[in-house]
Amino acid sequence: MFSTYIEVALLCHPVLAFLTVQNPKMHIKHSNLQYFIFSFLSLLVLRYACSAYVFPSEISIALCATNDQPNPIAHIYPGNATGTLNGTIAVIPISLELARQMIPPQYGILEHAYRALLPSFPKGMYPAVVQALHDHEVQAFGYKIDDFSRTGIEFPFVDMLNDNQTSFKWAPSMLMTAGHDIALNGAMDYGTNTFPATFDPGCDAYRAVPNSKKPGTTYFSARSSEAGAASLTTVFSSAEEEVFPLEFFKNFTNQPTFADGKTCDNMIRLYNTSVTTAPNQIQSVKGTVRANLFPFPGEKEWKNVYGLRLDTAFIENNYLPCENFRGYAGHE
Ligand SMILES: *[C@@H]1O[C@H](CO)[C@@H](O)[C@H](O)[C@H]1NC(C)=O
Ligand SMILES: *[C@@H]1O[C@H](CO)[C@@H](O)[C@H](O)[C@H]1NC(C)=O
Ligand SMILES: *[C@@H]1O[C@H](CO)[C@@H](O)[C@H](O)[C@H]1NC(C)=O
Ligand SMILES: *[C@@H]1O[C@H](CO)[C@@H](O)[C@H](O)[C@H]1NC(C)=O
Ligand SMILES: *[C@@H]1O[C@H](CO)[C@@H](O)[C@H](O)[C@H]1NC(C)=O
Repeated sequence: MFSTYIEVALLCHPVLAFLTVQNPKMHIKHSNLQYFIFSFLSLLVLRYACSAYVFPSEISIALCATNDQPNPIAHIYPGNATGTLNGTIAVIPISLELARQMIPPQYGILEHAYRALLPSFPKGMYPAVVQALHDHEVQAFGYKIDDFSRTGIEFPFVDMLNDNQTSFKWAPSMLMTAGHDIALNGAMDYGTNTFPATFDPGCDAYRAVPNSKKPGTTYFSARSSEAGAASLTTVFSSAEEEVFPLEFFKNFTNQPTFADGKTCDNMIRLYNTSVTTAPNQIQSVKGTVRANLFPFPGEKEWKNVYGLRLDTAFIENNYLPCENFRGYAGHE
């Protein structure tokens, strides 16, 4: 899907190039100022026409400025989809019984796999995870798409191949920046319940809560454009204690992800680039998550949720046969 849109974008760009080449002829008849005004206006009109046709709300999204650092790996993997994901990831312990009710019955839950990583995780519980992320400088072959935000509650350690070994992450639903058709269609093609949404902040992973009593308090919220359909809000503060080891986050964020099970998304999140390894980039946090999101029945609130605020670079390989990942344990 991503590549289809790049092709459409390419169709637009030659028109722009053609116009810029043709315009210098007018230079002879008009003054410099007139020429500049004319070419500026025609580029604007063309860009608008192009955007309105292909990306209806590109203009409104493009007005956003972000604090995210640039994609540090685009030049290393120019032929792959790369980007950065800045935001909060946290573990929501739920009962295994509830997890079993929500995860489709044909898929097992690899309890031994998460217990190998979290030996003291409470008995009878399962680690669902929340991700609240800002996708930044996502690109391939030098074509960048607009930034967008997304959030959802995901279910790692799912035995989708029934081999009692390979962990997959089931991501059944997602709130995603309204109007960003590339991202929305990209998620829908996995069979994800995708909710176009308004995010606060609009162009960042989270924002500071002013005058908060707790240090390092940040806020993030997403509300579906269709009122009441879905929402997710988080408030996190700095935590002294690290309840779940970084290895656990690395492990589940790198599990192949699926929604309806027809294809799998291989999102390779790198924890070894400058956006992650610079001093104080990974922050332990504790907070509250409130969500009204399928497959949870009704609105839920979880307190004392532990997680991390961090940015990572990623490489994404889309729409792969899930069978390809039999025995996959994540990248080294
Ligand atoms: C991640 O986002 C936060 C909030 O906008 C920002 O302060 C931080 O600098 C970002 N981190 C990186 C590495 O871009
Ligand atoms: C980059 O994309 C190619 C072609 O899709 C794929 O074979 C390769 O594994 C990707 N590279 C990484 C590091 O994922
Ligand atoms: C992820 O955790 C599982 C154990 O649950 C382990 O077998 C696998 O090697 C881990 N992957 C990585 C990349 O550490
Ligand atoms: C799955 O593998 C685990 C660990 O190797 C083992 O303890 C468990 O009995 C296996 N379950 C089944 C159903 O084979
Ligand atoms: C980061 O990790 C990836 C995958 O594990 C590896 O290919 C790459 O060389 C590493 N980069 C650095 C800067 O260490």
